[in-house]
Amino acid sequence: MSAQTSKTQAKTIHKESWGSRVGLILAMAGNAVGLGNFLRFPVKAMQNGGGAFIIPYLVCFLLMGIPLLWIEWSMGRFGGKNGHHSTPFILDSMDRRKFWKYIGVFGIFTNIAVAAYYCYLESWTMAYVYHFLVGTFQELNQVEVASFFEKYVDLNTSTTGIPFEPIFFFLLCVVLNTWILSKGLSGGVEIASKIGMPLLIFFGAFLAYKGITLQAGKDGALYGGAVGLNFLWTPQFDSLANPKVWLAAAGQIFFTLSVGMGTIQCYASYVNSKQDIALNAMSAGWMNEFVEVVLGSAILIPISVGYLGIDKVVELTTSGGLGLGFRTMPFLFGQWGTVIGSFAGVAFFGLLFFAGITSSLAMGTPWMGFMQDEFKWKREKSAISFGLIVLILGLPTVFFFNEGVFDQYDYWAGEVSLVVFALLETILFAWVFGMDKGWKEITDGADIHIPGFYRLVIKWITPVLLLFVFIGSLIGPANGDWGAAFASLANGNGWLLDNSSIIAQLLNKELNNQLAQATDPVLIQALERKLFYINAAKLLLLAVFSAAALLVYAAYKKRVREGRFTS
Ligand code: TRP
Ligand code: TRP
Repeated sequence: MSAQTSKTQAKTIHKESWGSRVGLILAMAGNAVGLGNFLRFPVKAMQNGGGAFIIPYLVCFLLMGIPLLWIEWSMGRFGGKNGHHSTPFILDSMDRRKFWKYIGVFGIFTNIAVAAYYCYLESWTMAYVYHFLVGTFQELNQVEVASFFEKYVDLNTSTTGIPFEPIFFFLLCVVLNTWILSKGLSGGVEIASKIGMPLLIFFGAFLAYKGITLQAGKDGALYGGAVGLNFLWTPQFDSLANPKVWLAAAGQIFFTLSVGMGTIQCYASYVNSKQDIALNAMSAGWMNEFVEVVLGSAILIPISVGYLGIDKVVELTTSGGLGLGFRTMPFLFGQWGTVIGSFAGVAFFGLLFFAGITSSLAMGTPWMGFMQDEFKWKREKSAISFGLIVLILGLPTVFFFNEGVFDQYDYWAGEVSLVVFALLETILFAWVFGMDKGWKEITDGADIHIPGFYRLVIKWITPVLLLFVFIGSLIGPANGDWGAAFASLANGNGWLLDNSSIIAQLLNKELNNQLAQATDPVLIQALERKLFYINAAKLLLLAVFSAAALLVYAAYKKRVREGRFTS
């Protein structure tokens, strides 16, 4: 009897849930608000013509982002009622067909693979905060600041004096994430979000103010911050016809809202089954959009355009997305003098760090939830195993950054799998589970009235848009020109594939073209080396996916053996 009682007690102690509604919303917003808001959004917007990008972006938010938020929140809460906290068995419980649990593998794979490169990126922000604090950037000119970043990712830290610095900060970052995760949701993640999110908004507001008020001729600025803002916000309607811009906008909506990843389902599965999700989803989603569209567009672009001009910034963003923040900002902040400049540097990279960590923590929870649900692992053990996986899987991105391994992770796990999973889960939700049950799940306990029009959107518009996005990603034609590609096909010259399409990426089309044209033996060797690492990265990711699928299979067998049928 007493053994029985202590057993149930132990169970209740280990049962995770959110401490408060504010904590839940902040954690969900922290999940969504990430490096994507401050580094990826402005870069994507610049690459796609500034004002040309904004309209497709907002349309995708309203017709794909919001519906997916509701779908994923309600799937999560629904799964949580049956004790499922990760997508394999949440999806499994929504239909009797057995294959859905393998679709759910995406929700574990994506988080693990993204966490691996994301934590590396996050660790740069730690390193930069450190270097601002010790004044490393103070004496450096623009070229030297750029080369600091170059050397850092090349693991040549001769300028910084810390041996193995990138590896040290990466380790530190993984350990910190693991430690917070081991404290659980209310005792770890929620506290981190309650500290991180307000500080992030505070730093962001300060920097946005500086960015917007930057004036030509002051502090070495050649142009005003308004030049950059105008470029971002002057709508250009002709671009609406360019599918490439639409694809980029859709991709950014996925990445920034953290939809199509399985993370929201996991967080939402710890929501009390009677609690509202309709309003919670909107609060977290709109908070993300505020941070992205208001703060995210008022910092990086206005400041860098203010000093460097539009052409230079466009050039910098096309030649490498991440460069702008890390290669130029430390120098530009330096123009504001030592005190304000250092504070701005700490604020900017500190803000990135808080944005990053509240996202990477979220990426840890699906794996942890899965191992706890299925294999009865303790929270600590689940957290440590997640840390180890991220460490092992992240090291290739650290060691072979310049060979393109980081970008491979970002492309397959941070772009392609989101679209695939979002498409499949929407079909499951709207068509298999069915809109009658689905709508009930979304509106059950809702604190707001959701316009009935969204029922139609979820059933028809969202899946069709997702299908377009998927097809566009799969076989996107060169330069987004479908007309030219169809003409070429009709003339018997074959389809003109864009280098960024899934098929071209699978075949390494761009690299192979470069190889075919190269004559210099040194260049050929370098390209072949790159090809090797890129293929190895793909195989590694495939192995991770397969391993996760095997675990799901093992969990399923275990359930059958124990008579815990799932649907
Ligand atoms: N939304 C985050 C950002 O904008 C990224 C992110 C959070 C993410 N959770 C994720 C990416 C899970 C993939 C998987 O930076
Ligand atoms: N391939 C991405 C891009 O160029 C890399 C990237 C840029 C990124 N900013 C990011 C990845 C922010 C994660 C977070 O757009």
